[in-house]
Amino acid sequence: MIQPFDFQIPTRISWRVPVSEALPEAVADLDGKRVMIVTDPGIVGTGLIDRIGDALTKADCTTTTFTDVGSNPTTRHVASAREMAHGTDADVIVAVGGGSPIDTAKAAAMLVTNGGDYSEYQWGGRPITRQSHPLITVPTTAGTGSEISKVAVISDENEPFKKGVLSPHMYARVAVLDPEVTVGLPAGLTAATGIDAFIHALEAFTGKRTSPITDMLAIESLRLCWQHLPVSTTTGSDLEARSQMMLAALYGGMAMDQSGLGLVHALSGGVCSRLHLHHGLANAALLPTVFGFNVDHIADDRRHTLTQIVGLPSDAPDDALVAAITRFVGSLGLPTDLSEHRESLDSDAIDSIAEESMRMVMVHNNPRPVETSDCRSLITAMA
Ligand SMILES: [Fe+2]
Repeated sequence: MIQPFDFQIPTRISWRVPVSEALPEAVADLDGKRVMIVTDPGIVGTGLIDRIGDALTKADCTTTTFTDVGSNPTTRHVASAREMAHGTDADVIVAVGGGSPIDTAKAAAMLVTNGGDYSEYQWGGRPITRQSHPLITVPTTAGTGSEISKVAVISDENEPFKKGVLSPHMYARVAVLDPEVTVGLPAGLTAATGIDAFIHALEAFTGKRTSPITDMLAIESLRLCWQHLPVSTTTGSDLEARSQMMLAALYGGMAMDQSGLGLVHALSGGVCSRLHLHHGLANAALLPTVFGFNVDHIADDRRHTLTQIVGLPSDAPDDALVAAITRFVGSLGLPTDLSEHRESLDSDAIDSIAEESMRMVMVHNNPRPVETSDCRSLITAMA
């Protein structure tokens, strides 16, 4: 029986190669003339921002570039970006990068029209009532799905815990996808961002708020990740693998946006801020143990679909499915537990991660009910 669902992603998705040629048209469609690019110094170093800037200048646009984006962006970064948008009277914001620049730009675009400080909106505080300032997203990794999601994950400057703010008013107007920009991504970052896409699809597919549309997207995302993430990681110049992973990240992001996430992502915020880990690396380390915790609470038909995707017979036992997923994570050169961080995970740290995780809405979408004590036991088992 199909449970009630809505599916709403208003972002226009434009697959264009090269992105620098496509952006002026996307900006013009939004009546943009003064463009603020939000990115990070690493992306600037690739020359991509120069190419985009040149193309926009030729199209009679002025550009300013904001690069003060941390790897875990905070409310301070968002406030600075918002100030620059005001100061330059930017009529379009273009986010170029992975999740950090895109989330910073998404949060700043929301503040431009809604006003106030970002921290006022965190934890469901101040309501978001106005559509964000026009935003175009250009992902340079295949993983976060932030290019088409309504959420921005930003840490509070005074408290390292990551807080997601989400609203249907926060979608980008356009996401321009060009897989060529991911070709130079190092293997480690390719694997870490790619496994994040895999987990978005997995948590959306096994959560409580599934729908026929997100199931379709999640299954295809999982299949594409399983097939193409290894090649994309080992042979970064393989444009076909890069293209398929960009699709996988898009589908996983759409599934996540509409159907939510689960316990891996609920634990990940606290783990990342405590251990200063990249989001994808933390998720990789959490996945095997959390999936083992969840597996027998996943409906039979969904487990059968997963066994088929990972190349096992549909009647394969749960242990074999968990082992296959663990091997997949390890084969990408990613951690499969938190043993490297054992010394940082004393009982205070574990308690605080467990308590922080239980405040995340994602825990309520997890297929298996979760208590604080479960979070504690799982982190202890991984360390
Ligand atoms: Fe994620």
